[in-house]
Amino acid sequence: MAKKRLVSGMRTTGSLHLGHLEGTLKNWVALQEKYECFFFAAVWHAFTDRLKIDNLPEVIDEMIVDWLSVGIDPEKSVIMRQSSMLEHAELAVILSNMTPLGWLERCPTFKDDVRDDEARSTVSLGKLMYPVLMTADIACYNAEVVPVGRDQLPHLELSREIIRRFNGTYGEIIKEPEAILSSVPMLLGIDKRKMSKSYNNSIELRETPASLKDKIQQMITDPQRVRRNDPGDPEVCTVYAYHKIYTPDRLEEIGAGCRSAAIGCRDCKNILFERINAMLEPIRQRREEIKARPGYIADVLAAGEKRAHEVAGETMHSVRKAMGFLY
Ligand code: TRP
Ligand code: SF4
Repeated sequence: MAKKRLVSGMRTTGSLHLGHLEGTLKNWVALQEKYECFFFAAVWHAFTDRLKIDNLPEVIDEMIVDWLSVGIDPEKSVIMRQSSMLEHAELAVILSNMTPLGWLERCPTFKDDVRDDEARSTVSLGKLMYPVLMTADIACYNAEVVPVGRDQLPHLELSREIIRRFNGTYGEIIKEPEAILSSVPMLLGIDKRKMSKSYNNSIELRETPASLKDKIQQMITDPQRVRRNDPGDPEVCTVYAYHKIYTPDRLEEIGAGCRSAAIGCRDCKNILFERINAMLEPIRQRREEIKARPGYIADVLAAGEKRAHEVAGETMHSVRKAMGFLY
């Protein structure tokens, strides 16, 4: 039986961190086995809230290098850039005409951005259109499944409605995609806020052992645990939240050790450092291997985009024909 087709994208907003790895990439790597996967760099989506991205070619290529270094495999999955796939743009224009403004304005991510009149005067049309472009990204490939984070679920619901509208008008041309939610917990930044580049609190995939050690030393622990002999409460500690992910086999020992002050925060952080460092080491090695092959990323993208054009071209041919553009 043919594998179901899957599409997902990631915005090119800068270097990737453990939140991307745990929340998205590990999931993608696993999904490659079961689905026909199309993964793309959502380059246009990265511009919905900024005018310019410095060194964009490097930003894109480095993101692709990160994908490959964690195990996204160009032999299994199609890897491409949204900005090379003009089919997405054409379909977005078409679908924008079938999308009532109210649907977009009610979108939670958009509503958050236009709280007041001042925000309304700065937020872009592209931001409002975000879910329409996202629908086009998916519909171009006639994808059946889309892995998204919980925050993106309303977007996918909108995509389904837009596609239903298109199909209701022109016939069953585009499949209605289903969301697959990854079950990973949200990773906190080293300051206990949501991990985000803009908070400067992230642990990057590209940390060296030294910079990783430094970041882990900076992590917020139980603020009540001032002296080495004070017992701690692991449940309020960021380090412990990470141990839940990276040290599940020693979690009880660490939790009890913290509560009884049998272990100190320094040792506790060292254990975490060893775990994360051991996980990152093969990723670093693969990155070096990839970087040692000049032209490799360009080749991966050229092959991916060739295949992507075949599939998107077919969909767009049906769309153009159904709407009366081809005669
Ligand atoms: N909206 C996604 C994000 O911010 C990125 C994205 C763009 C996407 N187009 C998509 C994800 C299509 C899945 C399918 O993470
Ligand atoms: Fe956090 Fe570990 Fe210190 Fe307890 S011992 S407060 S879990 S770093």
